Amino acid sequence: MNNIKYDSVRPIHWRDDALVLIDQRLLPGAHEEIVCHDVEATAHAIREMVVRGAPAIGITAAYGVVLAARARHRQAPATWKQDVEADLELLAGTRPTAVNLFWAIERMRRLIQTLDDDPAPALLQAARDLHEADIEANYRMGALGAALIGSPCAVLTHCNAGALATGGYGTALGVIRAAHAGQGITRVYADETRPWLQGARLTAWELLQDGIPVTLVAEGAAAHLMKQGELGWVIVGSDRIAANGDVANKIGTYNLAVTARYHGVKVMVVAPTSTIDMNMPAGDMIPIETRDESELLALQGQRVAAAGARAWNPVFDVTPAELVDAIVTEKGVVKVPDREKMARLMAQ
Ligand code: MRU
Repeated sequence: MNNIKYDSVRPIHWRDDALVLIDQRLLPGAHEEIVCHDVEATAHAIREMVVRGAPAIGITAAYGVVLAARARHRQAPATWKQDVEADLELLAGTRPTAVNLFWAIERMRRLIQTLDDDPAPALLQAARDLHEADIEANYRMGALGAALIGSPCAVLTHCNAGALATGGYGTALGVIRAAHAGQGITRVYADETRPWLQGARLTAWELLQDGIPVTLVAEGAAAHLMKQGELGWVIVGSDRIAANGDVANKIGTYNLAVTARYHGVKVMVVAPTSTIDMNMPAGDMIPIETRDESELLALQGQRVAAAGARAWNPVFDVTPAELVDAIVTEKGVVKVPDREKMARLMAQ
């Protein structure tokens, strides 16, 4: 029994021998679940954003490996280890930017190499452990990040780095939950987050599920909001942090960091160490996912852009380390990140 408050949302479940996901494409209008019985359905759910957010993608992939190995072992007990490689590749090919996906698959791959008989029990236990550890890491980051805020102020968050994007509780929203519980936040602003509206649909929904008031702003309102002087921090998550402290996150994060520096607003990035990619020397080498232009040209299936207009839809950007005031991880806080400080954190 823990004493964590404001913690009601869980996007991923293992139930009746299958993976069950809240369909985040439908929130907040409908609360429906999708059941994945095989690795193909799991990969489809990640690619199509039924489940999204870096840690949640990693956890989902880990359960996907359980489904894959179980099926391969049933089909061909002698060759399942070789056969399952194709499934790991299928999962790895779903989304390119969030490193938690590759991190989770690699951990499961290493475990597979040690298994002989029915692999499902050991793999399921590993996926469950990874899921549980993510939630624990979020509780720890919540406390560490809330302690950084200082005197009560308003905060702005971007995209959804909440319970829905993780095993539960969230990274950026974990800090906001903890700070709200400690009365360290005067108001939570959420960017709408074009074009998927993770802010308007998901962040607003999950904060309200826990009774935390939220004020939505249009993406373009951030500079004007910062000029009012009420905002102390921009608090965001990350999809991949490079070895020099550069941060890939939802498109628009870089705009916010540039604007925040100009206005004297601080930037906090909250991410577990599974999001830190020490094999990626700098942010400009991080693969940035570009999604279909239809996501920009239409809203909920209804064309809004002028007929004939084309769109460019990169869905992440990279904020240089020099614009980040603090990276909060479960292992500790790195203030004003650089290569040396990141290496020291990861050596712990
Ligand atoms: O495209 P999405 O919705 O998967 O993007 C999610 C984000 O950019 C989050 O900020 C990031 O994954 C951190 S989630 C704790």
